[in-house]
Amino acid sequence: MKNLIGLLAMTGIALMNPAQAEGDIEAGRALSTQCSGCHGVYGMSPSEQFPNIAGQKESYLSAQLRKYKSGDRNDLTMRAIVGPLSEEDMLNLAAYFSSTSSVARYSFDTETLMIPYVDVAGVMFKVEMLLDSLEELTFSVTHLEER
Ligand code: HEC
Repeated sequence: MKNLIGLLAMTGIALMNPAQAEGDIEAGRALSTQCSGCHGVYGMSPSEQFPNIAGQKESYLSAQLRKYKSGDRNDLTMRAIVGPLSEEDMLNLAAYFSSTSSVARYSFDTETLMIPYVDVAGVMFKVEMLLDSLEELTFSVTHLEER
C-alpha cells in the first residue's frame, strides 16, 4: 500500500510539476503551433502516422531535432521543419513537449484523465484520476482482486 501511494504521488507530481527544463517551456509552447498539425497540440498525435512526443525526455527530443538538422536522422518532413529552427528554438521545443503530459489531451473531452490498472505485489487496483480543475487532481483507487 505504501508503494501504491508513493506511485500515485509521483504520478501526480509528474503531471503538475514538470522537471526543471533546460529550455524555456513558454517559448517552446509559442513555437509548438507549427508542430501541432502533425504531433497534436500537446504532442499527442491524433494519427498513426506521427509519433507522440508528449512527456518524452527533454534531452531525447532535443537530440532528435539536432539529428534531423544535421541529417544524422533522415526524414524529409522533419528535416524541412527543423531547417529554420535555431539551437535555442530546439531546446525550447524540447522543454515544452517534455513538460506536456501524455494524458493532458483528455482534459478537454472528459473529466476522466485515464484509468490505469496497477499491480502492487500481485494485488490489482484500478486507478481513476479526475481533473477537477487545472489545479486539482483527485485519485480514486479501487481494490480489484487478489491473485
Ligand atoms: C508535417 C508533419 C510534421 C510536422 C509539422 C512536425 N513533425 Fe515531427 N515528425 C513527423 C514525422 C512523420 C516524424 C517521424 C519521422 C521519422 O521516422 O524519423 C516526426 C518525428 C519527430 C520527432 C522524433 C520522435 C521520436 O520519437 O523519435 C520529434 C522529436 C519531432 N518530430 C518533433 C517535432 C517538432 C518539435 C515539430 C515542430 C517544430 C514537428 N516535429 C513538426 C512529422 C511532423
